[in-house]
Amino acid sequence: MERSQHKIQAIYPGSFDPITNGHLDIIDRTSKIFHKVIIAVLNNKQKQPTFTIEERIEMIYDSVKDYPNIEVYSFDGLTIDFAEQKNCQVIIRGLRAVSDYENELKMALANRKLNSTIETLFMMADSHYTFLSSSTIREIASFGRNVDEFLPELAGKMVRKKYNISEES
Ligand code: PNS
Repeated sequence: MERSQHKIQAIYPGSFDPITNGHLDIIDRTSKIFHKVIIAVLNNKQKQPTFTIEERIEMIYDSVKDYPNIEVYSFDGLTIDFAEQKNCQVIIRGLRAVSDYENELKMALANRKLNSTIETLFMMADSHYTFLSSSTIREIASFGRNVDEFLPELAGKMVRKKYNISEES
């Protein structure tokens, strides 16, 4: 098999509303494998996120500031088009439980149909994060409970501020 001599760049797309320790675990693993990793934050004008695009990017920047090979961008439109624009050969998606699989398979196959030169790779976060998702975080926080232990530092602070939660809750 002929091996590619190119330095491979990966893109890790998502809503990151907000970034969690589960995302960060995938980012950490990905950064060790690929030459460069681009975190692409979807700025979908139709979808109303809890955190603005600026807030989501600020939280991500702060949590990846020690990684020299990570860049963060917002994008709208199709992930596959942004991946091509940024010269990424691989799309990274995190898989938690089996329940993620069906939707991820659909998305990966749609993306392959749109551009067969870009591969989707699935990565498993540490089992510690299996239950963790941004929507779970938002739901727990909306009832006033502190979710700091599941989030990078700045994200924890910003979630507390958004939901008026004290550090002790
Ligand atoms: O963090 P999420 O919400 O699971 O991320 C989903 C995301 C942003 C990766 C996905 O919705 C996406 O790629 N949206 C952009 C439009 C697109 O390319 N859809 C997939 C092909 S139909």
